[in-house]
Amino acid sequence: MFRKKTDSSSTNIDRLPEFGFLKNDDIYMDNACQSPRPQPVIDAMDRYYQSYNACGGRVKYKWGQQVDSEVEETRQLVIDYLGLSKRDYICTFTLNTTYGINLILGQLPSGAYHQVVTSEIEHNSVFLPTISLAQRFKIPRKVLARADDGSLIYALADLEKSVVVVNTTSNIDGRLLTNIKQLISDTHKSGGIVIIDAAQTMAHYHELLIGCQADAICFSAHKMYAGSLGVIVIRKDLLKTLAIGVVGGGMVSIVNEQGYTLLTDDMNSWLEPGLQAYSEIISLKNAILWLKNVRPGGLSSSQHIEKISKILYQGLLNIQGLKIINSQASSLISVYSNNVDAHRLATFLSASGIMVRSGYFCCHYFLLEKQKFPPLLRFSIGLQTTEADVEKVIGIMRKITKG
Ligand SMILES: Cc1ncc(COP(=O)(O)O)c(C=O)c1O
Repeated sequence: MFRKKTDSSSTNIDRLPEFGFLKNDDIYMDNACQSPRPQPVIDAMDRYYQSYNACGGRVKYKWGQQVDSEVEETRQLVIDYLGLSKRDYICTFTLNTTYGINLILGQLPSGAYHQVVTSEIEHNSVFLPTISLAQRFKIPRKVLARADDGSLIYALADLEKSVVVVNTTSNIDGRLLTNIKQLISDTHKSGGIVIIDAAQTMAHYHELLIGCQADAICFSAHKMYAGSLGVIVIRKDLLKTLAIGVVGGGMVSIVNEQGYTLLTDDMNSWLEPGLQAYSEIISLKNAILWLKNVRPGGLSSSQHIEKISKILYQGLLNIQGLKIINSQASSLISVYSNNVDAHRLATFLSASGIMVRSGYFCCHYFLLEKQKFPPLLRFSIGLQTTEADVEKVIGIMRKITKG
């Protein structure tokens, strides 16, 4: 599966052939933002545009029928990938994780919940909508801490009739929501619901979610090697309670002068007003199939990520003057240097072809307000990342931080 590159402009690297179009000297480590798309995913999108470029859900002609069947396969595959059942859940598509969370919180019925609960290490796409929900419903909002192992620290009273919205993988340091099953069970017993931000989980840590009966799981296909797309997997019971107010084409059976009736036989459409991003939806099917089968260096995708992230983590730990935010290796590692500002480091790294993020990664509350950290530098690796990439990054980091 791995292929040796012979490009004389760079060291030999063992990059997956599906990323053969990447230049050897370009080391992209911003997968947390969006992953590079492997060739099979790009090919699937091209195939849609070149051979059956039609809308879904509305037409009888053959291109549209093919779109419908691909979209249905994608919905099924996503539900299967999460170990859930189509009897209880549906999979719908939207713009991104942010939009998915807002779409659910913005349509929750008033009066049903007594508090909103989130954690201190949330992305603004959770932190802000939970503030907005608490303000709209005039209910209290709790911001709970996460332990070093990523578990949410709560008392049962915190969950009473609550809307809990938390990530399963932090985009700062990769902490996983290790007590997810207990949290869901305790919240359900307390009359609440759990909405999961799985943006950083689906590409490399999706095993954590398998069989977890959350009420909704939102994520971004563009962070899991597919096209730019949001996904909402939602429990039918919760969907039925939403006050559907974001409405438009493709979702009604009857319209009269002052009213309309939503399609009862197509609940997916309730969260999908208007035309959808069909090539991106189809690309997600191909990304999941690829993720299930890819064997970088003979390893599974999660074994590869574990191996490469440990090498990177150890290498960064050995650099003097570098403060590592993580307490363990992860596909996401954030650091700061006592000697050089993170934005300058990112610029220096870029001069060597290394693309990483600097700043606060939309986690302003925790990083800036609470911890008062300086801007951070974040390495987020993926299945395109090789050992040679990591060694180069460590060597250059040592040089530019004078560590
Ligand atoms: C943990 C987490 N949640 C949510 C988001 C928002 O994702 P999107 O911009 O695709 O909506 C991100 C983006 O980086 C993230 O890392």
